[in-house]
Amino acid sequence: MSKLFETVRVGRYTLANRLAMGPMTRSRAQFDGTPGELAAEYYAQRASMGLIVTEGTQPSEDGQGYMATPGIHSDAHVAGWRKVADAVHAKGGHLFMQLMHAGRMSHPDNTPHHRQGVAPSAIAPKTPMFTPSGMQDIPVPRALSTAEVRQTVDDFRMAARRAIQAGADGVEIHGANAYLVQQFFAPSANTRDDEYGGSIYNRARFAIEVAKAIAAEIGADRTAIRLSPGTTLWGIDEGPEGPDLYRHLIAELDKLGLAYLHIMDQGDQALLADIRKLWKGTLILNRPGRPREQIGADVASGLAEVEAYGQMVLANPDFVARLKANAPVNEPDRNTYFGGSAAGYTDYPAMAWK
Ligand SMILES: Cc1cc2nc3c(=O)[nH]c(=O)nc-3n(C[C@H](O)[C@H](O)[C@H](O)COP(=O)(O)O)c2cc1C
Repeated sequence: MSKLFETVRVGRYTLANRLAMGPMTRSRAQFDGTPGELAAEYYAQRASMGLIVTEGTQPSEDGQGYMATPGIHSDAHVAGWRKVADAVHAKGGHLFMQLMHAGRMSHPDNTPHHRQGVAPSAIAPKTPMFTPSGMQDIPVPRALSTAEVRQTVDDFRMAARRAIQAGADGVEIHGANAYLVQQFFAPSANTRDDEYGGSIYNRARFAIEVAKAIAAEIGADRTAIRLSPGTTLWGIDEGPEGPDLYRHLIAELDKLGLAYLHIMDQGDQALLADIRKLWKGTLILNRPGRPREQIGADVASGLAEVEAYGQMVLANPDFVARLKANAPVNEPDRNTYFGGSAAGYTDYPAMAWK
């Protein structure tokens, strides 16, 4: 496990250790999408993680899907995130902002503008979603025109610029978990007949264009992407060509020299081995529900340079110190994952040193 505590170079930064906080939506932002008052404290408490990846943050108004998620498309958002970045940096940490466009995973009741969600095609995910009045079915989204797809690429670029203005060390494109980028990958969500639909090359195009646009704007060494190849969440079915789409996508992304690729493992170990071969840069690996005794194994074996953990970091602000000391951990409370204020957010105790 000790290799986890060694420094590592990621993009233009040297991280204090090889542990990352995975991105986690907490739905505690202000109504206009400015991070909540406690966000700076929450992230600063976790700054001993080598890297913090922030909660999914919408690059545009239409990118919002859930209630009370933060944005990075207005001056108020920049000012709010500036407090977060400054607080993390004051504690010696690094943070990449996750840019998340929810695409069709959106309900009009959850956004200030109440518009219909937008997506590659007008196909509903056939799943309910939490809204202010409880669980509701997600309506059919509006298909983006080709010009709007290009505008969305540009929205990501502008959001990345604003993230850097706010003091973030970089951005991570959310290409995982059935949101907009992954909706383009999946024939079950993308039946377009323009250059963004059809072949695996066309379905991968949006992700590649977003990565290129952001890299050109803020530097490839501050640009990263998260993928969850093969997920079947919320009506996503990448079909039999799915693994080939990822082989093509990752080979293309590798040419850009990005800061890192963040894989949320879905269990296909043959594909993971291929990804490791195709990806020459830094790989961050998140294995959902990883048992404690396995922590450090992927860094030790050289499969990944960094390991990311979500819920354990949510519940343990001093996760690194606990691992070093082989100390017990706080268990996360699912009831306070989304919404609310300090309870289950900034009040998880650090270890009491005797
Ligand atoms: C409350 C919560 C919110 C999450 N929000 C996001 C998100 O905004 N973006 C994302 O890529 N993954 C998100 N995830 C997934 C986590 O980053 C992570 O991949 C997942 O929790 C599995 O890892 P773990 O077992 O270490 O928690 C979220 C998970 C949780 C528990």
